[in-house]
Amino acid sequence: MFDHDLIKGSFSYNTTTLAYPELSMNHLLTLLNRHSTPAKALTDPAPDDEQLRHILQIAMGGPDHGRIQPYRFITIRGDARHELSNVFAKAVSRRDPDVSDQYLKKQKDKPLRSPLIVVVVASLIESEKIPQIEQMLCAGTVAHNILLASNAMGFGSIWLTGDNAYDSSVFEALGLKSNEKIIGFVYLGSEKIKIPPRLAPDPGDKIFDWKSPVSSTDNK
Ligand SMILES: Cc1cc2nc3c(=O)[nH]c(=O)nc-3n(C[C@H](O)[C@H](O)[C@H](O)COP(=O)(O)O)c2cc1C
Repeated sequence: MFDHDLIKGSFSYNTTTLAYPELSMNHLLTLLNRHSTPAKALTDPAPDDEQLRHILQIAMGGPDHGRIQPYRFITIRGDARHELSNVFAKAVSRRDPDVSDQYLKKQKDKPLRSPLIVVVVASLIESEKIPQIEQMLCAGTVAHNILLASNAMGFGSIWLTGDNAYDSSVFEALGLKSNEKIIGFVYLGSEKIKIPPRLAPDPGDKIFDWKSPVSSTDNK
């Protein structure tokens, strides 16, 4: 049996059936303990180009109906973050011409919090076989895999959206085409302070063991 310090008492697993017990257990712990890091707690170094390539390759291993890869990544580092900051400020002012200076500053500061931002973009195709919701979900699994892979490599990350992720002027500035949507801004870097790993919630009351069709009256 394997018992990890961080999760003692709450999770144990019979490793005797695993081909590579230690390795497999580490994989499970990475999954069990994935956690977000607040963007303002992220700093240099961010994943370098090679590390990011690995992260994105792992991310692209997400399930993909028809293997159509309905996504792409826009990376924003260094001075380009200041450009994004201006894009956010313009978008906010356009949405609300009476925006307060304080809120405008908060929006402008957003892209500057961490050293690297990966914008995960869903690039949707017209298909009779693969509904667009499935393509969006595929892009979502890719975004989630960035979080998992970056944690596994020792980096912190967080998936954020906010109104700017749905703003047409932001789409335009980032060069999105009409078939594209922002799935999220994934902020990446090294943790300034160690964020305690989070234990994924107990699935307990989320599990429904279905045996036979539910009558419409039971369902109310
Ligand atoms: C599609 C999506 C959009 C999100 N957007 C935001 C956001 O704009 N602001 C925010 O604070 N958290 C947002 N979150 C939640 C964070 O990514 C994160 O999950 C949350 O802070 C909880 O931390 P945890 O992942 O460690 O449980 C979003 C999550 C998803 C899946």
